[in-house]
Amino acid sequence: MIAPPIVENGRASRVSPIVDYLSDLLARFGEIDDGSLASYIPELTRSNPAHFGICIVTLDGAVYEVGDTREPFTIQSMSKPLTYGLALEQLGEEAVHRRVGVEPSGDPFNEISLAPTTGAPVNPMINAGAIACAGMVAERGEESLSLLLDAYSRYAGRGLGSDEAVYRSERDTGHRNRAIAHLLGSVEMLKVAPEVAVDLYFRQCAVSVDCRDLALIASTLANGGMNPVTQERAVGESVVRGVLSVMTTCGMYDGAGDWLRSVGLPAKSGVSGGVFAVLPGRLGIGVYSPLLDVRGNSVRGVAVCKALSADLALHLVRPGESTPPPVRAQHELGELGSKRVRTPAEREAIRSSSARAAVFEVQGELGFMAAEAISRRLTDATVQPELVVVDMRRVSRADRGGIGFLRALATALCTVGGALVVSGAAPSLELEPSDCIRLFEHLDEALEWCEDELLDRLGHPHAPTVVPFAEHELVASLDPDELARLTPQLGSIAVEAGELVVRAGDAAADVFLVTRGSLSVFAPGSGSRARRLSTVSAGMTFGELGYVERGNRTANVVADTAVECTTLPYAVLDRLAAADPRLH
Ligand code: DON
Repeated sequence: MIAPPIVENGRASRVSPIVDYLSDLLARFGEIDDGSLASYIPELTRSNPAHFGICIVTLDGAVYEVGDTREPFTIQSMSKPLTYGLALEQLGEEAVHRRVGVEPSGDPFNEISLAPTTGAPVNPMINAGAIACAGMVAERGEESLSLLLDAYSRYAGRGLGSDEAVYRSERDTGHRNRAIAHLLGSVEMLKVAPEVAVDLYFRQCAVSVDCRDLALIASTLANGGMNPVTQERAVGESVVRGVLSVMTTCGMYDGAGDWLRSVGLPAKSGVSGGVFAVLPGRLGIGVYSPLLDVRGNSVRGVAVCKALSADLALHLVRPGESTPPPVRAQHELGELGSKRVRTPAEREAIRSSSARAAVFEVQGELGFMAAEAISRRLTDATVQPELVVVDMRRVSRADRGGIGFLRALATALCTVGGALVVSGAAPSLELEPSDCIRLFEHLDEALEWCEDELLDRLGHPHAPTVVPFAEHELVASLDPDELARLTPQLGSIAVEAGELVVRAGDAAADVFLVTRGSLSVFAPGSGSRARRLSTVSAGMTFGELGYVERGNRTANVVADTAVECTTLPYAVLDRLAAADPRLH
């Protein structure tokens, strides 16, 4: 996580072009003093019109804030998306949508916009819809206010409370909202008394927040409902899309169309002077400045959001933008090869049938575009691969479409006797291993499995687990006389599976001729398959590099199975160089 920059008088004390940029916005737009304080809630006229703060929170939890980001104010209408989310979670989409629509009204926030036939408010961002949603949450009875405060607090990542003075001020003067609640009651859009619904609504509007909280709320929505700083879930991912959708079309009321065109971010404003905007999957923005335009939106807040969107290219609609190709590379199995050293006969068998196993390195998002790219390549292949490896190491996110595609691909491969092999997939993807789907942590392991499987399918004899010394690759070309001269000078080792045979850093002294079992060579400091350099088996040799380099061992060698080796000391080789050059 990136540490938040230290901000002093609007300037970061450490180098931060981001904070400098935000400070410039503060200076540029701080000069605007158009607009007026909301006065229909008397207590709001006590706000300081000079207050001005900007905060951005990224999804990896970096917080950039300049100006008056810690001044408290009430959340007002910016509470509406949060309560809508809570209602969706508590009652489910269908029940909520019977009582509040999702159509933009284009009307001011306090308009009584009800659908002509049903009487349902047209959307949850205008007061009528928000009071209907508060009514739904209020069905939880006494616990409803604490449920609501707990949820809001999880969004902000700190305990939020109410501004009692603002609450009372609106309660005592909010005749229009009270009338709206009674109207909703008259068309049976409330299951609680209108007074109960509107009271919870007044209370939610009076929750005290600051500008930083707004950016955190926005970034939580951008992050699919999980607060990116506390990592605590505020709302289920499944309802966030619905919340952001109505924010996009209705969040800025009668200015929603112009907002979408010029800023292009789901957003919500409040008459206290706050506004927050969400760039899904990227960041959240909060701005606070209490002077409002005629629509009840912060004048500077709107100006800052327009500038941020234009300067930083944050608009949701990005014509002409293309993402990196989802398939980074495609190979045949033989082109890559696992770290297991194969015998020449095995290598030839794998090479000649290499096209029967295809390897796709996928990057970025595993979604429909990746699915389409993989399936098109499979359809276009001259030889239909039966083993398909999808390496997910570089996949940052997989959506339902992408995972569904992997399962469908596995089923299709299974019906033609093949299998899907997935490597490097995050456990959160919840792919179940089966005969059709093989899962591996590392691509190297997946490749090894495919090579073994291909050799089996070709009916290739398994490599021997025991190769007598006399048949070993290193001595197979010696005549009996030479072999007889060499043999008495050799040593041997026998170890159990898991034992360390060579340790990185130790002095190198022998060449090892493996006569039984197999061993793996790992980069120093690791026993992990991720850093396997090679696997050698009976009939193969290791440790010969040390003879050439004359240094210390550079890797660890661990027995995979019970192992026997004949050892050829470097000292013997040195002696032979002078005494028996042909044998040497
Ligand atoms: O219901 C009201 O009028 C206020 N409590 C909230 C209105 C509001 O914030 C409108 N947003 N710009």
